[in-house]
Amino acid sequence: MESNMLKVDDIHVYRGETYVLQGVSLNVGQGEIVALIGANGAGKSSMLRTISGLLRPKSGGILYRHHQHAEEIDISRIPAEQIVALGISHCPEGRGIFSQLSVKENLLIGAYLRKDKNEIRQNYQRICKIFPILDERANQTAGSLSGGEQEMLAVGRALMSRPKLLILDEPSLGLGPIIVENLFKVLQNINAQGVTILLVEQNAVMALDYANRAYVLENGRVTLSGPSNELARDQKVRDAYLGGV
Ligand SMILES: Nc1ncnc2c1ncn2[C@@H]1O[C@H](COP(=O)(O)OP(=O)(O)O)[C@@H](O)[C@H]1O
Ligand SMILES: [Mg+2]
Repeated sequence: MESNMLKVDDIHVYRGETYVLQGVSLNVGQGEIVALIGANGAGKSSMLRTISGLLRPKSGGILYRHHQHAEEIDISRIPAEQIVALGISHCPEGRGIFSQLSVKENLLIGAYLRKDKNEIRQNYQRICKIFPILDERANQTAGSLSGGEQEMLAVGRALMSRPKLLILDEPSLGLGPIIVENLFKVLQNINAQGVTILLVEQNAVMALDYANRAYVLENGRVTLSGPSNELARDQKVRDAYLGGV
């Protein structure tokens, strides 16, 4: 296996009184697509928000190595914008786009930490190549896009910070099967261009189809993990997440 990019080590997280992550550990290797699956309320979004610095763990560490020869740093207690600057970009649940702003404006918001205008322009052009529909609709308001296009916009915006690690929270939510298939193909293509992906999904079929490895989260704990094809054959996973087939 390639070197670890992210090592979440025994983190414990509370939201108010609720003990939402009860000692979770997981690894993401450089270049992988890793999926985190689990039922509603299992703690998947809390996990991603903790990695991105939006929630603080009570204990445990999150070690991140932004490239192969760099030293690992513990990002579990540093501010969210510094985590973005280190190369981790979070595409949130519900997309979080600004529906009154244009598609282009939404994309440029993703580059807010970057200064070099030339680089930003190049990256914008690269994203227009990945998502030609966003290029076509650059001047329309984001609110006028379809659900699938809005998800593409959210992914495109997350890519504007030039992440090494892209974190996605339920990208398939509310989208039809053909759109989802297309979205996952695009994610695979982004991954092939060198972006490591950690993704949360309730759509376990798609997640296990596209990810290299997966973790199952239940009530704030990892109960199973392994290569996706092995999990897809596991009877407990099939019963709980693949419709018992
Ligand atoms: N803002 C919040 N304040 C308090 N508890 C929350 C908040 N958001 C989520 N929770 C609780 O945290 C637990 C995990 O939620 P979440 O991480 O959103 O799960 P998932 O993404 O797997 O559906 C749930 O019990 C949920 O009720
Ligand atoms: Mg969630």
